[in-house]
Amino acid sequence: MRPLEPAQAAGSDGQPLAPSKRDISNAVPPPPSLHARLKLETAEAHQRVEHAFDLAAATSRRDAYASMLAMMHNIYCGIRNELHRLSGNGAYDVARYARLQIDRLEKDLRALTVVNRDYRALSFALGHADETIGCEYVMRGSALGGKLIFKMAADNLGVTELDGGQFFHGDGRATKSQWSIYSAKLNRLPADNARFDRIICGAVKTFGHFEAALSLRNQSPSVSSGLMQDDNHATNPCA
Ligand code: HEM
Repeated sequence: MRPLEPAQAAGSDGQPLAPSKRDISNAVPPPPSLHARLKLETAEAHQRVEHAFDLAAATSRRDAYASMLAMMHNIYCGIRNELHRLSGNGAYDVARYARLQIDRLEKDLRALTVVNRDYRALSFALGHADETIGCEYVMRGSALGGKLIFKMAADNLGVTELDGGQFFHGDGRATKSQWSIYSAKLNRLPADNARFDRIICGAVKTFGHFEAALSLRNQSPSVSSGLMQDDNHATNPCA
């Protein structure tokens, strides 16, 4: 008696599939990388921030540009404070990046001769140390759009890297390569769904922090330096 043939996958014509096709049809797709998840799951939040940013208005006049930088300053100060609060939990390097961005913003504001601004830190809260990784993703990723913003500001307002444009110029030509290095670092984190969910939650919260502040600036152009406190966390985006 002949031994039983193992079951074979069949094509649409009922014929057994060639081995290569059978391998493909049985293959389980790999789970998306952390970076792929972050990009996909924050795409809408990015769109909302981009809308709130209002690039055309922000680069139409020097005072509007300075006002937007002052708001960015206050947004980043809120982030830095929260990262300091969590710095015992591995957020130290992320806080250092926030401080670098604040330094750049302060240099730009000085170059634009913005004085006597009512600088303050806009309230920002994260719930877990893992969320700081999502926060870092948003801060570092914004450098990609920053290249475009720098070009608009340079074309429309004449700012340069050393004269009012340091924050958006960022790492200049190295931006893309720095981003690739950072993306690879994200993707080396050991797979852990619960942790990845918390990281994404941190990114969503951070986008929300930017959106709330930038929208406020649009509602009232005179509000350039943070008259709001503790009013952007009424809802928990990760609940
Ligand atoms: C007018 C304002 C903005 C524009 C036009 C803009 C545009 C862009 C563009 C074109 C990219 C993709 C670049 C590439 O793949 O080469 C990008 C990426 C990104 N932007 Fe923005 N952006 C803006 C503001 C912001 C702000 C304020 C934030 C942060 C709050 C932000 C966060 C990000 C992040 C995290 C990425 C990386 C996405 C990924 O590849 O994972 N963007 N942006």
